[in-house]
Amino acid sequence: MAEVLIVKDQQEAGGIVGRAIADLIAAKPDAVLGLATGSTPLRVYEALAGIVAAEGLDVSHVRGFALDEYVGLPVGHPESYRAVITREVVEPLGLDPARVLVPGENATSIQTAGEDYEAAIAAAGGVDLQILGIGRTGHIGFNEPGSSLASRTRVKTLTEPTRIDNARFFDSPDDVPVHCITQGIGTILEARHVFLLAFGDAKADAVAAALEGPVTASSPGSAVQLHRHATVVVDEAAAAHL
Ligand code: GLP
Repeated sequence: MAEVLIVKDQQEAGGIVGRAIADLIAAKPDAVLGLATGSTPLRVYEALAGIVAAEGLDVSHVRGFALDEYVGLPVGHPESYRAVITREVVEPLGLDPARVLVPGENATSIQTAGEDYEAAIAAAGGVDLQILGIGRTGHIGFNEPGSSLASRTRVKTLTEPTRIDNARFFDSPDDVPVHCITQGIGTILEARHVFLLAFGDAKADAVAAALEGPVTASSPGSAVQLHRHATVVVDEAAAAHL
């Protein structure tokens, strides 16, 4: 069973998870971080950047692997997850951009992009600490309901609710890509420590299903129940249905 921390707000969550990541980097300077996008982890990255600056932590050897990416956006699009990771993580923390990878990027072909990404993660020694958000549909990464719990990095089609949720980042809902490439649930479960974060009442059903429902592909977040070292950090609104 995952450890569940109910916090006052995103600020407190950011402080807790940011501290955990900083401690990991201090103990293992070439730590491998699994990076999530979306609004959920933003306070974590902010808190971590503050700690890195205040404590003069050497992050030059840290590696990062993004969870997922849209397929089909123009290179350099500000809402591509590469751009988001650069803006929210790489630059504020001062990471080496060459050590932070996003799935599908520089792939020789979209058919082999998933395998290539898995090979890069393996070559780095696997992910030490994975940050995860959860979608309203219960998705983790872009593994929508129905994704196999054993799935690996691959190209997927986004569900309509997720495209609608993510439309807020685009000028028009039609601009939201239809396809994505995401680490699989099996890939995510191989991280040595997983932090799943969720805030707000819109996530309450997904959180309850993930933590207390059956372990099932219908609720991708329920995969955290299979993980030996999972920490769930939620505010009271997201914890309301537990
Ligand atoms: C997005 C991302 C996920 C993210 C989730 C929740 O579509 N692909 O990795 O965890 O949906 O997003 P948010 O944190 O903005 O609520």
